[in-house]
Amino acid sequence: MNQTAIHRLLAEYEKKEITPARSEELFQLRLAANLSIIKHLFSSLYPENEHPGMFDKLVNRLPLLFSKRPKELRALDLERTYGRNDHWYQSEQLVGMQLYVDHFSDNLPGLISRLPYFEELGVNFLHLMPLTTRPAGENDGGYAVNSYTEIDKRLGSKKDLLLLTKEMRKRGMYLMLDFVVNHTSDEFSWAQKAKQGDSRYRDYYYTYPDREIPDQFERSMPEVFPETSPGNFTYNPEMQRWVMTVFNKYQWDLNYANPEVFIEMISILLEKINYGVDVVRFDALAFLWKKLGTSSQNLPEAHMLISLFRLCMQVLAPGVIILAEAIVAPKDITKYFGNGILEGNECDVAYNASLMALLWNSVATKKTNLLYKSLRSVPEKPASATWINYVRCHDDIGLGYDDQLIEELGWNAQSHRRFLLEYYCQRLHWSPAKGMMFMYNPKNGDGRITGSTASLLGLEKALERGDEEMKAHAIAKILLLHGIILSFGGIPMIYAGDEIGTLNDYSFLQMPDKKEDTRWLNRPRQNWETIAELGDSKNETAEIFYRLKHLISLRKELPVLADRNNLQLHNTGNPHILAYERTGPGEDGVLVICNFDEAEQVIDAGWVQSLGYGQDSGFKDLISSSRVKLSSGLLPLPAYGQFWILKD
Ligand code: GLC
Repeated sequence: MNQTAIHRLLAEYEKKEITPARSEELFQLRLAANLSIIKHLFSSLYPENEHPGMFDKLVNRLPLLFSKRPKELRALDLERTYGRNDHWYQSEQLVGMQLYVDHFSDNLPGLISRLPYFEELGVNFLHLMPLTTRPAGENDGGYAVNSYTEIDKRLGSKKDLLLLTKEMRKRGMYLMLDFVVNHTSDEFSWAQKAKQGDSRYRDYYYTYPDREIPDQFERSMPEVFPETSPGNFTYNPEMQRWVMTVFNKYQWDLNYANPEVFIEMISILLEKINYGVDVVRFDALAFLWKKLGTSSQNLPEAHMLISLFRLCMQVLAPGVIILAEAIVAPKDITKYFGNGILEGNECDVAYNASLMALLWNSVATKKTNLLYKSLRSVPEKPASATWINYVRCHDDIGLGYDDQLIEELGWNAQSHRRFLLEYYCQRLHWSPAKGMMFMYNPKNGDGRITGSTASLLGLEKALERGDEEMKAHAIAKILLLHGIILSFGGIPMIYAGDEIGTLNDYSFLQMPDKKEDTRWLNRPRQNWETIAELGDSKNETAEIFYRLKHLISLRKELPVLADRNNLQLHNTGNPHILAYERTGPGEDGVLVICNFDEAEQVIDAGWVQSLGYGQDSGFKDLISSSRVKLSSGLLPLPAYGQFWILKD
């Protein structure tokens, strides 16, 4: 039972009605119930004898921060913590889209005018990429922050953001924004003060007078951007010191070993969510704690720190939840939901990066063996947690599979990764994919993949060649992968543009501040001209849009698709097929069967019946709403086909 559940229980015992008038009193109750864990975590990271008075400083800050929480949002907090909308983020009704505001609608007012577009598609949860001020040149798509709360003028103003969140609430939509918790830009006010010699702010970062400690760190820290930003430290001539810069050289890592940094950041976080944010995306959170002799990723202290953020939020804004952007090894991802006493008290949602990467592996190999093996090796998540399931996002596709599992299939892990890079990055003439390499490291052959969903799945090549079969396959694959993220359990997050099969955008190659970063290949501008013609068109864009829209509405009609840890994987014996079942509390169930092969594949119909499907009236596929014809007791799935079958 996590802290949220404990509050629910306490509130139930009271037998008093939860009304907004009691918001203050309930804050006190949450503070009392959480304080001992907060103290435990805080003093484990920052022992009182080394940091006298810091815990008091934090505790004194909390009521002040709560006093700034707007009334309307306090009421929402209560509804989500104690009311009927408590598991909103696990609901089958939730469908997300991720977008860059400038590429999608130019600015925030433009986005407000586009809200009906999301409603038409069935999307009611938006992840807006960083909106805050950033350096003028390279800025990692806004992930180099000059401020956490000032809005970039090109996108709009604070007022525009408040108008947007108000309008979204009115329409029952949810918002996710980034909290770039690991680093600031080198132009951030703290960095500027540090550069001017202010030692207080110098201690907000990791800075060193010479290479001695940086060299020690380098021995065990991997490189994130080896091609464009090798190493983990950058020399700053103004300070005449080396600064830790794990990502780009202009992104300075915050020093969380200093409790002042945590107290500042929790205050900033509260200010940020008071815009009306429902989910905070903790960016690059695996990197939050650094320690010599380690990779400085996924350290136990980082988990404690994230929990500390979560529990302070639990007290201050309990309706807001945290998403872990932890693109780490599969076995490490579930740790971000919290372990032991912290179970369910760390992040509420995490990217299902393993599923995403495995889907791309299955497309290239046309097989599901690694997918099954890997999914089965991931520990079950806590009941209160959920995934964000996605096909593509703004980043690259990393090939972070478990080497041992690849080897167990009889493949060589390194050659297998090389095959995937070649398949997706135009090194194999027969491959339909058209992607690019990201951060290729010739020293060890490691690399990652970029490209839009449609181009990676063959639509771009098919259109260039006028190859109808390749085009039909590309469309089927786009829908197959989206059908999976819509039915797998968790929040499906569609990447803006994928709903109309948007191809790669090569314009970044002409832009000096972007051309080194091939991730811009998959960050296209939204094509509103194409969208305006969807209704009259019969081309691939319209086909993808309307079939995806249909899948979304189907998801929302099936309460078993809400995430209740109710996913069961089934082995069919056919290596090209993925089959899983979502079961309800009663007799309800949906069986999803997917074919990753370019040829028709069959499975034993008797086996499907033995699971309780198709016994009475034959097999009816919900997606096509037609009956599936058996052939000699076998259930045939077309090339890249997918069935959703309802339990009788
Ligand atoms: C996250 C973002 C990525 C960014 C990095 C550094 O991984 O998704 O786009 O480059 O953090 O902030």
